[in-house]
Amino acid sequence: MLEKFRFLTAGESHGKCLTAIIDGLPANLEIDIEFINSELKRRQQGYGRGGRMKIESDTVEITSGVRFGKTLGSPLTLVIYNKDFENWSKIMSVNSEDETSEKSFTAYRPGHADYAGSIKYNQKDLRNILERSSARGTAAEVAVGAVAKLLLKHYGITWNSNIIQIGQGKTEEEFHSEIDKAKEAGDTLGGKFEVIFENLPVGLGSHVQWDRKLDGKIAQAVMSIPAVKSVSFGNGQHGYKIPGSEFHDQMYAENGKTIRKTNNAGGVEGGMTNGEPLVVKAVMKPIPTLKTPLNTVDSSDMTETTAHFERSDTCAVEACAVVAEARIACVLANEIMLNNPCDFV
Ligand SMILES: Cc1cc2nc3c(=O)[nH]c(=O)nc-3n(C[C@H](O)[C@H](O)[C@H](O)COP(=O)(O)O)c2cc1C
Repeated sequence: MLEKFRFLTAGESHGKCLTAIIDGLPANLEIDIEFINSELKRRQQGYGRGGRMKIESDTVEITSGVRFGKTLGSPLTLVIYNKDFENWSKIMSVNSEDETSEKSFTAYRPGHADYAGSIKYNQKDLRNILERSSARGTAAEVAVGAVAKLLLKHYGITWNSNIIQIGQGKTEEEFHSEIDKAKEAGDTLGGKFEVIFENLPVGLGSHVQWDRKLDGKIAQAVMSIPAVKSVSFGNGQHGYKIPGSEFHDQMYAENGKTIRKTNNAGGVEGGMTNGEPLVVKAVMKPIPTLKTPLNTVDSSDMTETTAHFERSDTCAVEACAVVAEARIACVLANEIMLNNPCDFV
């Protein structure tokens, strides 16, 4: 189906920059660059991040689509420069005369894109797969999501996210000690988080076609975040063990309004927002690059070896939640624009 708010991103992890082009924004939307930068900063934070986050301090440059602080309705281009590129300019050069095997590797990392990507794109140097499959690219998505959030903010929509569990830990203190233990063992951790959007109008999405259902669109947007392996709505993950009499959110009339006392549906019924908070829960698997590496195969000679290791996060669940907020904000911005009769705000 034809979407309205669309975007593409480009850029390698250690390349010169990340770029995103957003199409379908309304004109006259105020663009607060400080807000976009603060969202980028949120993505870089969180207990358990690796050394890369100490090098980068992401800020965005807007190179099209905005004049005097407001959108023009034309495509908006965002650029984020990789500070680490100065250490990689020869290794990531676009020029054939600079070709080098420095930083090449051939030992697949189980759980990452190396194996399937190298076969699909016929690449011997797994660096050529790592560079784009790295979650560094999510910085561009968070910048796009920040623009989407500015649109949602204009309509009074609010959001937040919470970490529910990391390893066995359920409190912040326990999250930190779980991550410390994993780091010490050269291991990694995943976790579970939730993202909540409130003040959404009733009826975003639609029940009439499978590809217009809002829960389906959001599930795709969140499931495709690197390392996310499970997505659910409200109490959906427990739906198999709760009877209908307890699961469904009963309705009551109060001052001429329909209200609910529970939100097991997570704000979506029939593929449409129902006016309750949208509650999306997701599980991020453990980071695949381990300091104590896993058994693998070296693709250069088909011998068994241990997986490639390079600077990596121990746990990135907090950052993942920020990426999920951004991805969901983009889906919601699209729905708002599909329902918007004008191309301006
Ligand atoms: C914010 C964020 C940071 C990540 N950091 C790392 C990392 O430092 N090292 C790593 O191996 N994977 C990291 N990942 C996960 C990989 O990018 C992901 O597992 C890989 O691309 C394979 O995709 P899949 O897990 O969805 O199959 C990160 C993911 C996110 C969302």
